[in-house]
Amino acid sequence: MVSTATRLGGFAFDNCLMNAAGVWCMTTEELEAVKDSAAGTFVTKTATLAYREGNPEPRYRNLPLGSINSMGLPNQGLDYYMDYLLELQGSEPERTFILSLVGLSPDETHEILKKVEASDFKGLIELNLSCPNVPGKPQIAYDFEATETILREVFSYFTKPLGIKLPPYFDIVHFDQATAIFNQFPIVFVNCVNSIGNGLYIEDEQVVIKPKGGFGGLGGEYIKPTALANVHAFYQRLKPEIQIVGTGGVLTGRDAFEHILCGASMVQIGTALQKEGPAIFERITAELQALMAEKGYETIEDFRGKLQTIRD
Ligand code: DHB
Repeated sequence: MVSTATRLGGFAFDNCLMNAAGVWCMTTEELEAVKDSAAGTFVTKTATLAYREGNPEPRYRNLPLGSINSMGLPNQGLDYYMDYLLELQGSEPERTFILSLVGLSPDETHEILKKVEASDFKGLIELNLSCPNVPGKPQIAYDFEATETILREVFSYFTKPLGIKLPPYFDIVHFDQATAIFNQFPIVFVNCVNSIGNGLYIEDEQVVIKPKGGFGGLGGEYIKPTALANVHAFYQRLKPEIQIVGTGGVLTGRDAFEHILCGASMVQIGTALQKEGPAIFERITAELQALMAEKGYETIEDFRGKLQTIRD
């Protein structure tokens, strides 16, 4: 029997596929749909302390090879997601879910994390260091000094299982420098990757989304090779206690297989979920199981991280 079950941060999940933050996770209705699909768990839309309307529309577009977005962190605010997650702890105590969050400033991030620390929430937390779409706010994770400072401050008081969502890096030195920071902390996972920030898509001599003059984060097929490179680079470098979540360009079971081969313990689906809806989890799970059966693998641990290089 082929199983796609996995473990992350000490918790067990019956499937290694789930949504990526930002897709099908804004409201409890959307979160319920992912929860009740074949997905192993869900992550919420990245929550700020208060409700945010986000950027003006159109702010998301499906493209032939993926998507472009500049949503601007629209979300219901921390309490909305916390209330729902606490309710689920009562009704589905055997399952674990993920809360994504970030503040609009370091102070706000600490205020949010202190509320989560003081709460009864028992799941995983994903701190988003890679939101590219709030005008005037650079991505934290492209500023290594700011990243190290915030992580040092966070781990001075935060004791719950915390992972971080990263943007793609494009230079080997940056993989090394980022790893030197992350390995200092009790981070339970790094999630590679958020969208490739600030792409531009043109149609009829015009941009296709309104915010930021058309600049937006790219997802989907465009980004799979970059995502796989980031998953594998961090898998090779991080201390073994830090697991990898693979996100970017997953449309098929083979794409999910490749993320796991690069070292991912969990695989998230963003653009393809937006295009296809939560029934996608059943399709990709079946495709992944069929590929594993064909290759004689029974669990994802049979091939996770076992990417082969070319020898002389
Ligand atoms: C948004 C986009 C992101 O890629 C992210 O990590 C957080 C928020 C957004 O525009 O809403």
